[in-house]
Amino acid sequence: MAPNRRTELIQRAVRARRRAVAPYSQFQVGAALLTRDGEIIPGANVESASYGLTCCAERVALFRALTSGKRDFAAVAVVARAPGGAMPCGACRQLLAEYAPDAVVWVADIDDLATVRELTVKELLPEAFVTF
Ligand code: THU
Repeated sequence: MAPNRRTELIQRAVRARRRAVAPYSQFQVGAALLTRDGEIIPGANVESASYGLTCCAERVALFRALTSGKRDFAAVAVVARAPGGAMPCGACRQLLAEYAPDAVVWVADIDDLATVRELTVKELLPEAFVTF
C-alpha cells in the first residue's frame, strides 16, 4: 500500500473521530475503511445509556460500507487517544474476519500519528469462525 494512502486513511479516521458519540466513556474512536477501488468509508463509535448497545467505530464504518454495497476492503485505520493506539475489540475482529479478511489494519494514537502499528485481520483473529 502506498504510504500516502495510509496517511490519507488515518487522516480520515481522525476526522471521523470528531463525530464520535461517546458521552459515557469519553473515549472517542475513529475508523476509516478503504475499498479495493479506492473509496474511503469513515465511522466513529456511538454509545448508549444501555451500555451493551454501544457500537465501535470499526463496526459503524463496516456496517455503513456493507449497506452501501461495498464488499471488498483493502485496509482499515483506527485512531483513538491511546498510547500505541486502540486495538479493535473481539466483536470488531470477528466482523472484520468475515467481511474484510484480507484487509491491513492500521492503528494509531492521535497524539502520535507518525507511529502506526500495522497488522492483518488474520493476525488479530487467527482461525476465525466464518462458516458453519
Ligand atoms: N471502541 C471502539 O470504538 N473501537 C475499539 O476498537 C475499542 C472500543 C469504543 C467502544 C466504546 O464506545 C468506547 O470505545 C470505550 O470502550
